[in-house]
Amino acid sequence: MYKAKAYSVSSATSPFASTTIARRDPNPHDVEIEILFCGICHSDLHQARNEWSGVMPTVYPCVPGHEIVGRVTKVGSAVTEFKPGNLAGVGCLVDSDGTCPECKAGLEQFCPNFVLTYNMPDKHLGGVTYGGYSDSIVVTERFVLRVPPNLNLAGAAPLLCAGITTYSPMRHWGVTKGKKVGVAGLGGLGHMGVKFAHALGAHTVVFTSSPGKKDDAVRLGADEVVISRNADEMAKHAGSFDFILDAVAAPHDINAYINLLRRDGNITMVGAPEQPLPVSVFGLIFRRRSFSGSIIGGIAETQEMLDFCSQHNITSDVEVIPIQKINEAYERLAKSDVKYRFSIDMASLKSE
Ligand SMILES: NC(=O)c1ccc[n+]([C@@H]2O[C@H](COP(=O)([O-])OP(=O)(O)OC[C@H]3O[C@@H](n4cnc5c(N)ncnc54)[C@H](OP(=O)(O)O)[C@@H]3O)[C@@H](O)[C@H]2O)c1
Ligand SMILES: [Zn+2]
Ligand SMILES: [Zn+2]
Repeated sequence: MYKAKAYSVSSATSPFASTTIARRDPNPHDVEIEILFCGICHSDLHQARNEWSGVMPTVYPCVPGHEIVGRVTKVGSAVTEFKPGNLAGVGCLVDSDGTCPECKAGLEQFCPNFVLTYNMPDKHLGGVTYGGYSDSIVVTERFVLRVPPNLNLAGAAPLLCAGITTYSPMRHWGVTKGKKVGVAGLGGLGHMGVKFAHALGAHTVVFTSSPGKKDDAVRLGADEVVISRNADEMAKHAGSFDFILDAVAAPHDINAYINLLRRDGNITMVGAPEQPLPVSVFGLIFRRRSFSGSIIGGIAETQEMLDFCSQHNITSDVEVIPIQKINEAYERLAKSDVKYRFSIDMASLKSE
């Protein structure tokens, strides 16, 4: 066991503060990683503030962070794919049982025994797992990703959650050339969704509640931009979408989007407001539309996404911050005021 520097919250209302946490010494199958950058996902904010208390109550102190990019510092004796000095990534998952049908299908995100990167029981050290707002992490090799060296590291970190969470449902629902695809909510997830939909060749429409993001949406790859609070603008697209990815982090009118789908169109929720969203059944039955959800992606698909990003030169648009600015960053994230992901430069933790 060794001590790592980290930032944690001690209650739903307290600010982040500097601390130290225990990390395990690498077991034979483990990789020890010096964290260089960690993205700030809205899920980190939901969890830190215990906004998912009904589903996943927060255990304090909590160290969030699941968009991790770093450099391997040590490997266990049985590790074959990584050696010290390699770039490495860690996303939302750090373990699973490896034996259930989901794991066997490469869909570890649906394993009933998965272990999330933070706030889940830690079978090695007791307590809960601690995430990437830290200078170091130890993860079993099966959950460590190869980070293509041509990608900017600060911008690559958010691919480990925002990237795979938007890539996976787009692949599942067949987003491709000739399809009309919507992305609702131009935040960390949404802006990655726009980049992927565009790169996959779809006609891409952004729905935003922030008129000030219109130019950015076009720059990111949108063919059209709709202000979601404007009912007339929305109505012009009625019955026309093959697929909509909903990445909105707060309660909103889902039926307004369902009505934009064509026959057999699908809308997938990746945004995760805790409150239920009322769905009008008639919106679904009249055109055999479907309403579904998706959570991150499996490890193999996460690697596929990173390699796709490498080929298409895709990274997240980031505002790089020192960890000392994290409380300010959370205030801005809560107000949808980030372009389009905060990425913490972990070199800033060295001075703590
Ligand atoms: N399913 C998964 O596996 C998964 C993975 C990661 C995150 N998530 C969840 O996905 C959601 C988005 O995460 P994120 O990191 O992308 O968050 P984010 O950067 O805060 O973006 C969310 C966007 O939602 C829109 N929005 C926020 N409040 C709104 C409101 N009251 N009405 C309408 N639109 C609103 C804003 O876009 P506009 O300004 O363009 O309207 C905002 O930029 C969160 O709930 C997060 O927990 C899920
Ligand atoms: Zn996330
Ligand atoms: Zn499993």
